[in-house]
Amino acid sequence: MLGVIGAMSEEVQLLLSELTDAKEAVHAEITVTRGNYKGTDIALAQSGIGKVNATICTQMLIDIYKPEKLVFSGVAGGLLPNMRAGDIIVASHVVQYDMDLTAFGRRHGETPGRDRLIECDPDLVGKATAAFDAAFDEGGGEASLMLGTIASGDQFVEDTEMLRWLQREFAALAAEMEGAAFGYTCHLNGLPFAVIRALSDSSSESASDDFEQNLHKACRNSFRVMDQMIPAALAERNQQDRRTRSRPAQPIFNTR
Ligand code: ADE
Repeated sequence: MLGVIGAMSEEVQLLLSELTDAKEAVHAEITVTRGNYKGTDIALAQSGIGKVNATICTQMLIDIYKPEKLVFSGVAGGLLPNMRAGDIIVASHVVQYDMDLTAFGRRHGETPGRDRLIECDPDLVGKATAAFDAAFDEGGGEASLMLGTIASGDQFVEDTEMLRWLQREFAALAAEMEGAAFGYTCHLNGLPFAVIRALSDSSSESASDDFEQNLHKACRNSFRVMDQMIPAALAERNQQDRRTRSRPAQPIFNTR
């Protein structure tokens, strides 16, 4: 069983429409639809917006549906100038950017006793990038793929100063409001997870207008990746991983 979460109805709608044998249940006011997605058993939940909702939903899904792995998908605000609406970001790491114990000498995003950046499961990350390649024609110009840190906080970012800070402080590619809470919860439960986002806006002063305008396109693009990702997610480690692991070690520099 694969756990799949999106925050808003637009972010789960397209996946829901492809589910067969769907059965709905409600826990803590969160609707979960269990069903079959092109051969894979999934539990699909709409968490609601923000880190608290994401945490409650993730822990509930883990406790009740016992997924082997989990994926969060939806939209995000881009943090680099050359990004475009619809581009896909696969998180290598997630960070809660609004965790602030700097008053006690901690770095922004640092929670005592926990890693500042939580690493996503490398196998699921590899599968997400392969899913992008299968969903989008390389060089076709429809959407680009970027891998890196996603920063999460309980704020819709529409401020150039703030987006620059997020980029520089965390080397983050995108901002959203759930991924790190979801990731921390999976991590503490010892479960592999991935976060896949499509950009709806550039987190700058026009972000809320851009969000409204691009939401449909961004949801469509993240769905296209998820549509390829879900059937692969529970399979054994991917081919690319195996190739990498079996390659003999090479010296990085020629020492002569
Ligand atoms: N989700 C989509 N765009 C976002 C933004 N600019 N800030 C936070 N979450 C988002």
